[in-house]
Amino acid sequence: TILILDFGSQYSHLITRRVREFGVYCEMLPCTQKIKELRFNPKGVILSGSPYSVYDKDAPRVDSEVFNLGVPVLGICYGLQELAWNFGGSVEPCDHREYGHAILNINHQGHPFINRLFDGIEGPIQVWMSHGDQLDRAPEGFNVIGHTLTAPFAAIAHEEKHLFGIQFHPEVTHTPLGKEILKNFVKNICECEMNWTMESFIDKEIERIRQIVGPNGQVVGAVSGGVDSTVAARLMKEAIGDRFHAILVDNGVMRLNECETVKKVLGDHLGINLKVVDAADMFLDRLKGVTDPERKRKIIGNTFIEVFESESLKIDQETKEGGHGQIEYLLQGTLYPDVIESISFKGPSATIKTHHNVGGLLEDMKLKLIEPLRELFKDEVRELGKVLKVDEDLIWRHPFPGPGIAIRVLGEVTPSQVAIARAADHIYIDEIKKAGLYRKISQAYAALLPVKAVGVMGDRRTYEQVIVLRAVETTDFMTADWYPFPYDILKKISNRIINEVKGVNRVVYDISSKPPATIEWE
Ligand code: XMP
Repeated sequence: TILILDFGSQYSHLITRRVREFGVYCEMLPCTQKIKELRFNPKGVILSGSPYSVYDKDAPRVDSEVFNLGVPVLGICYGLQELAWNFGGSVEPCDHREYGHAILNINHQGHPFINRLFDGIEGPIQVWMSHGDQLDRAPEGFNVIGHTLTAPFAAIAHEEKHLFGIQFHPEVTHTPLGKEILKNFVKNICECEMNWTMESFIDKEIERIRQIVGPNGQVVGAVSGGVDSTVAARLMKEAIGDRFHAILVDNGVMRLNECETVKKVLGDHLGINLKVVDAADMFLDRLKGVTDPERKRKIIGNTFIEVFESESLKIDQETKEGGHGQIEYLLQGTLYPDVIESISFKGPSATIKTHHNVGGLLEDMKLKLIEPLRELFKDEVRELGKVLKVDEDLIWRHPFPGPGIAIRVLGEVTPSQVAIARAADHIYIDEIKKAGLYRKISQAYAALLPVKAVGVMGDRRTYEQVIVLRAVETTDFMTADWYPFPYDILKKISNRIINEVKGVNRVVYDISSKPPATIEWE
């Protein structure tokens, strides 16, 4: 394992991605991590960049014990300055912030170990710089192994102590040979074996789950038909078989035919022990007359917890009579980016909307959390799904919000309004798939607006509702751009919706980016 200590750089996650791509497992922890409290023995440490200057009063500081671990350390950008600072080097604010391409000359001569970090790289090479401070003196015992026109100490190394520092960012694609440099560090210098694969992850995780849950323990988890909960459920099934109980709550605001589809895919195809609970009336009843988006979310979240809890208690009772142990664990499909977000030394970022999750369950039911995906990124979850033979269509499904169509029927949520939004959405997604665009788009849906517009059909005047289509491209769902559909596809979608969905006489396309708009309308 490689330990990455994060000082808050926008590129830190990329370091993790690169190292894992080599087949080497790594974990990123906040830079404030106490080294004595580490739960594993890293074979090497990488210090990330940071938006701070080492001179800032509140600049993040690394536990200097990291340099006594006896394993190689690589400091990147701020990480280099932090390293130099610890060993008495001198850091100076630049006259100007250096940002962008630079040419790195590699000093190959005179240093016996020099080729370890730049092994196989002759230089000069193109590198990406993004910093305000830079080194103006190397600490004692360090050699200069690379320099640029403006940065005489752009790369330094202390051979005996296995300490390395680079001013540029090897993790970004703007440093074309960056991968090679990181690989040299991980493989040659830290001597990590490159054998971390999805298969080895599955074996390790199954073993871990079995140990945690024990031979009789039981686990319960909610599934939604989305990729994360499905893959997590599939892994649980693999680890403990029918002692894992999946619950699908039909809240009355799911997509067309959703329950049947999930039953088919998770229950019949993947053999997961699945219970479908029809609570549609209860949810829709409580949503009557409610128009405020936040209240809709709260009602759905709380009702969900209530239903889920009572169903788990039922399962608990039933299985206890059958001689099983108590249900002690709750499965959650938490991913690595959520974990990083909540452990960052800067604290979790502010939420703009309350996102519905099942966190409230833990206190009431005294359940402990089990999170088998907490070390993975989204695309790794997809890969895991593939290895576990989860349906391709499901693996590539767009995300769907917990409160479902309730936040896509603007204004009051009634069964007839849900039916209109649902039918329009189904046609929209169907046409996107037929056009071969589904995977190019990050998320698409149709929403029903709470306004009426005049139209004409035959020689009759109509006065009906408006459907808005949303489709966005994004990598992180924090910012997003609207998708530039070809006109003929929009035309086809609009024709079909107006002709096939009763109660709609107009279709509009949303051309707002996020920010300032959000992806959902409520
Ligand atoms: P916004 O609308 O905030 O959406 O730009 C960003 C992403 O989050 C999803 N979303 C939710 N997911 N519960 C969820 O589970 C929610 O209440 C919720 N609200 C928004 C949204 O679909 C998009 O993918």
